Amino acid sequence: MPAPLPLAGLGRHLLRSVLRVSLPVQEMPALLPGADASMSDAALRRLAESTAAAGGEGAAAIQARLDVLHAAALSRFAPAADAAGLEALWRTALRGELPLEGAYWALLVHPQADRTLRHVAFGDVEMLRPADAAPASLGALLERRSISPRRLDAPGPGAEDIELMVQAALSAPDHGRLHPWRVIEFRTPQREALAALFEAEKRRRDPLASAADLRRARAHATEAPCLLGFVVSPRARKRVPLREQWLAAGAALGNLLNAAHQLGYGGIVLSGERCFDDALARQLGLQPGEHLAGFVSLGTAREPAPPTARALPQEVWRCWTPDTAAAPALRGPALPAARALDGEGLS
Ligand SMILES: Cc1cc2nc3c(=O)[nH]c(=O)nc-3n(C[C@H](O)[C@H](O)[C@H](O)COP(=O)(O)O)c2cc1C
Repeated sequence: MPAPLPLAGLGRHLLRSVLRVSLPVQEMPALLPGADASMSDAALRRLAESTAAAGGEGAAAIQARLDVLHAAALSRFAPAADAAGLEALWRTALRGELPLEGAYWALLVHPQADRTLRHVAFGDVEMLRPADAAPASLGALLERRSISPRRLDAPGPGAEDIELMVQAALSAPDHGRLHPWRVIEFRTPQREALAALFEAEKRRRDPLASAADLRRARAHATEAPCLLGFVVSPRARKRVPLREQWLAAGAALGNLLNAAHQLGYGGIVLSGERCFDDALARQLGLQPGEHLAGFVSLGTAREPAPPTARALPQEVWRCWTPDTAAAPALRGPALPAARALDGEGLS
């Protein structure tokens, strides 16, 4: 029987993944030369990874400890004679009939596991245990989902929480600290007036709009417990390029939504055609050169949003080499201008 794969032979991504999933962080100080009690979990994980990747005695000690911790899984996987047998056992673990931590270790180091099967297991584990990889705050970032205004109940954020959200938005990367954006809060007593503006905008755009269309337009102004307008306000005559000011505004909007999520609120930003209506912009007090990026509806989610399939990091992440510069892009060619996106996906 061939020997199990040495830990260092797994490659960086598998190594990081299996250390995260199969080696409890409490085990690390005793295993890692140079570790001390003051180290954060993240620092311990990084040290474990570099020790394991370096091979030698440090890696052997980690491997031996993983073998002890997951002895039961190793003996369950040991008789598998080929990749098909291993895959069947892996499915047993995915069904919850075997601890995933042990099964993952046993599969990755099994001499019959081929590259494809290791990567299948990696994908399964990263999907099933994504947040475990991350500190709590990153977990919150990874799980944020938009919630439709129809699924938002009271309470929404009050002034104190909105202030925190705006503070988070002001902490986003921002070239020149221009904060080229601002937030308009529409409080309850003003919502009916806003609804009338939304209805009038809908009538302008679609003189044949049905009663149901007009009701929907009004509802967008009234249904969420808290409603904010997010305005991009590029600073003219500043040396920071406009496109960077838009990026800074987008980053601020992202921080605002993430802060709302971390404060326990559900929310969504929706633009729709009304955000391109000059008359509405004027009625909301926008100055020439300002843009209504969207309306942020906030409240308490009636039920958690179901998990969604996100793109894989590998779809948007490549390492550059001189040879790849001439290769086709990850997607097709970029659109000629940002304006080309306007009007897409509007509700
Ligand atoms: C500025 C901005 C405007 C948006 N406008 C709309 C919109 O009008 N209609 C829509 O369906 N989604 C719109 N979205 C996308 C949703 O807010 C949301 O991000 C998307 O549905 C993905 O859901 P998720 O946030 O749960 O991943 C907009 C997003 C941004 C950043």
